[in-house]
Parts: sequence; C-alpha cells; structure tokens
Amino acid sequence: MTEIKQLGYLGFEVADLKAWEHFTTDVLGLGQSQHFANGGFALRLDEYQQRFIIQPGQADDLVCVGLEVENKEALTAVISRVQAAGIAVGEGDSKLVEQRQVEALTTFKEPGGVQFEVYYGPQMAAEPFQSQVVAHGFKAGALGLGHFVLRAGDLEASLKFVTDVLGFRLSDRIICDIGGYHVNIAFTHCNPRHHSLALGEKLPKHIHHFMLEVNDIDDVGQCWDRVVNEGITVWNAIGRHPNDRMLSFYAETPSGFQFEFGWGGREILDDDTWDTYVYDRISDWGHEHPAQMFKKMFKKQKS
Ligand SMILES: [Fe+2]
Repeated sequence: MTEIKQLGYLGFEVADLKAWEHFTTDVLGLGQSQHFANGGFALRLDEYQQRFIIQPGQADDLVCVGLEVENKEALTAVISRVQAAGIAVGEGDSKLVEQRQVEALTTFKEPGGVQFEVYYGPQMAAEPFQSQVVAHGFKAGALGLGHFVLRAGDLEASLKFVTDVLGFRLSDRIICDIGGYHVNIAFTHCNPRHHSLALGEKLPKHIHHFMLEVNDIDDVGQCWDRVVNEGITVWNAIGRHPNDRMLSFYAETPSGFQFEFGWGGREILDDDTWDTYVYDRISDWGHEHPAQMFKKMFKKQKS
C-alpha cells in the first residue's frame, strides 16, 4: 500500500496562454482559481483549490506532477525511499508552497526528468465547484484529478520506480501493434481509480495525454460537440478501452499533446482479488482516427 493517495495536480508550460485560457475554461469546462504575476493561472474542477497550473514558456509540455499524501509522516516515508534510490530531493520553498496552495512539499525528478512534487495539506476552495459547461461535474475528489500518460525512456526502469519507490500498484498493461507502431503501456494506480499514472514509450513529449472523467455520459457528448465545432484536432473518436473501460475520445490541447475526455471508468476496489492482465488491444470498440473513419464511411456511401 502506498502513502500516495491521489494525483493532485499537473503543471504545464505553454507558449500560448490565451489559447489555453479559452481551451481549459470554454472547451473543458474548468474554472480559473488563481492568477500569477507572469500571466500564468491555476484551474480547478472540484473542491480542490487547484488541479492544473499553467505557466508561460516554450516547452509546451508537462513540467510538474503533484502527488498527495496524508501528512508529514507519509511524506517522509515516500521521500526516504526516493533518497534510498539515489535520487536527489529538494524542499519546496515558501514561494513554491504558496503557489501550489499546499501545506508542504518535497520535489525530485522522476527517471524521465519531470519534476514530481509530493505534498500534503492541499487548500480546498471556499465555494463548491460549478462548471460553466460540464453540467454534472467531474469525477475527481479523493480519486484525484484524473490520469495521465508519462513518457518513459526505459519503461521497465520507470515502472520499477513508480511501483517499488513510489508504491503505486500495477493495474494492467496493453501491448500491441497498431499500424506498424508498437504500443507498450503500463497502467498503475494508487487509489480505486483504475490508473492515475500510466507509462508509455517513444513519446514525443513528456506527456501523451491527461484524462478528465465526468459524471454523466451526456457531458462527454457535449464536449465532443464543442471540440468539433471549434475545429480542434481529434485524434481518436469516441470508443471504449478494454482495461479501464472508459468511454472517451481524444483531441489535441493547444500545446500539441492530447487530452482524453471520458465517462464510466471502472475502479479497482480490492487489490487482493485484482488480476493484472496484459491486453492485446487499445480499444474494445471505436477510438478510430477520424480520417480513417471518414475514408471508410465515404467509400461506403459511393458503393
Ligand atoms: Fe487515458
């Protein structure tokens, strides 16, 4: 059992702040909760004061990941294992603690180079969250903000770090070939959410995608409409994964990496009876690339 309770926040460095403001609030339905002097901003989607930290910069990529523990003792336990693995750690100074809206945190670099921040005492918002566009709200709270897929230079080494050092548990894996591309993803969990952190190989950026889960399937359909009407690049149309059983679609953020918007993910309620499968497919149905899908549909219409 890990001391880490949930994926608390993700931080991105983005070149086009204006595009991200519009995308996160009007398309995804998040709410801005803090503005920084440099033009950056923080976002919320539930009772937590902040779930995303968007900072200006040229990386257009993931720059930090917040992992929540219960208290100082739990933080010390995790950090002792990180140090025992030979990884340097740094105490979050008062400026960082203030920006992250937590009581205390310790930072270190995961094997792929992204800054991980283990914290306790997150600030909760004074008011309940009500999205302007996601009518029934996000499924988050104690399950964490959602999930993300992190690039691993050496998947087995990164998986060993995430499980042995951080204490996440392997949920399952997907290993298959799609259109000449070898897919090898390991999914890990730290609470009942099927996975909070997945690891993938040969990715162009540190992050492949982050996923937000909503409480009502209609909110997936309505986000799909917003994405299509805005002309946002869609990478995978609606479909369902075999492992977490999330019904979702994938489209592009203003920074080029993707987001997944989903509903209906399964939970792992008992690790003792959970079987760790290796799946040979990404999806049970759907998730087709729109260009391939339309090619087939057009061909059918002509015949
Ligand atoms: Fe996903």
